[in-house]
Amino acid sequence: MSKSQKLANGLNRRSFMKGAGMTALAGAAGTVATVASAQESASSAIPRLSNGKYDFDTPYNRVGFNCARWDSPPKRYPEGTFKYGMGVASMDFECAPCITEALHERVSHHSWGYMSSTDGLRDGILRWNGERHGVDLSSDMVTISDGVYPGMIAAMRSFVPRGSKVLLSTPAYSGFYSMARAANIEIVDSPMLYKNDRYEINWEDLEAKMTSDIRAMIVCNPQNPTGNVWTEDELLRVGRLCLDHEIVVLSDEIHSDVIRAGHKYIPFASLPDEAVVNNSISFNAISKTFNLAGMKNAYYYSKSTRMLERVNKYHRAELSTLGVVANEAAYNEGGEWFEQANVYMDENHSFIENYVKQHMPTVGYIRNEGTYMTFLDFTKTMAAVGAEEQYKSHDKASPEHYFQDWLVHNSGVYLNPGADYGTGGAGHMRMNIASSRLVIADVLEAMADAVNKV
Ligand SMILES: Cc1ncc(COP(=O)(O)O)c(C=O)c1O
Repeated sequence: MSKSQKLANGLNRRSFMKGAGMTALAGAAGTVATVASAQESASSAIPRLSNGKYDFDTPYNRVGFNCARWDSPPKRYPEGTFKYGMGVASMDFECAPCITEALHERVSHHSWGYMSSTDGLRDGILRWNGERHGVDLSSDMVTISDGVYPGMIAAMRSFVPRGSKVLLSTPAYSGFYSMARAANIEIVDSPMLYKNDRYEINWEDLEAKMTSDIRAMIVCNPQNPTGNVWTEDELLRVGRLCLDHEIVVLSDEIHSDVIRAGHKYIPFASLPDEAVVNNSISFNAISKTFNLAGMKNAYYYSKSTRMLERVNKYHRAELSTLGVVANEAAYNEGGEWFEQANVYMDENHSFIENYVKQHMPTVGYIRNEGTYMTFLDFTKTMAAVGAEEQYKSHDKASPEHYFQDWLVHNSGVYLNPGADYGTGGAGHMRMNIASSRLVIADVLEAMADAVNKV
């Protein structure tokens, strides 16, 4: 869509963000009418298609629809300083039309009792993984779940007895710590090294930490929040070390589809070493791929029947009819939408890289290889605003949590504090880049204004 078209529609970035800011405030104050009017100007039921292209540029306003990314932060900032929700890992794009269409069709049938089968969904999972990622699965290797969480917690309960521990290369997804708490076990961090402009596993540290009380290792591929897409060599090396130390591999591959040009996702279960593969369970979903986290659907699989059965014993999923319909539609008909979304997000990453390097000289940019998160290094700004000295007196959990508030108060931008991602996250903030580039441009400008002043 050209700039003039956008202006004709009243959808340039200034007018959208004015609306978004207003609705964020309105959400905090509970003014439903303002939300509804902003929604009118920014959305339609089904995304527009012109010349075979989906429109990711026109900002889609999700405020006021119980959206964790946009509706939760204003509750923390009732004074109204919050403007831009760049935290929680969900996309700001209108979802693939095939999903909304399938849901429309299903809700026209007035029947909501227990489901009979998930065979269609299962076929979609096998096909998606086989055709796109070259992992050869059969139906009996796969267990459907209602999230990565329940499967991962079941695996922790199954393989990690009380008093034993799980190993994790950090910084890594904060949810792993919640899962471990739910399973009543501890995580041992092995901080990665940042060298040659990339996070690398610290092999010496990792192996030293593979003590007899470590029973499982979580692999996050691609790694949230650093964006590493692990190579075959790296995965094999992890897998062989785990095998040598009798450690089970729990491979979380929920971000597996969002891969930047020039990188390739290698499913752990496709590694060319049968013993390594048979020592692993993989967890996946297309909830990141299609923004379906609220539809509660995921799965895990293993090529080892013994391992799968052990996890299944501790696992119970409660699926919903609409979740199954939405996910099935995405697997079967959403491929083209996602491919375009992925290219758009890749371009967002490049846009951010250029902007940060040119206009935010004190902020460190880390080039990521996958996921729609970016991990920015704000160490210098945090030192300049005295985050280390201030956080305790402000009753904050860490300097990064103090800085999170500082950034909202000074730019309106809400990011996730690096401290939540384990050892090595200090000084960093995680930013979600799955938004219209028009919104991203405003976010970057607002952050640059704030950061460059200190
Ligand atoms: C690495 C990783 N695993 C798991 C999850 C959560 O998965 P689910 O919502 O399916 O439980 C997330 C969400 O951001 C994630 O980034």
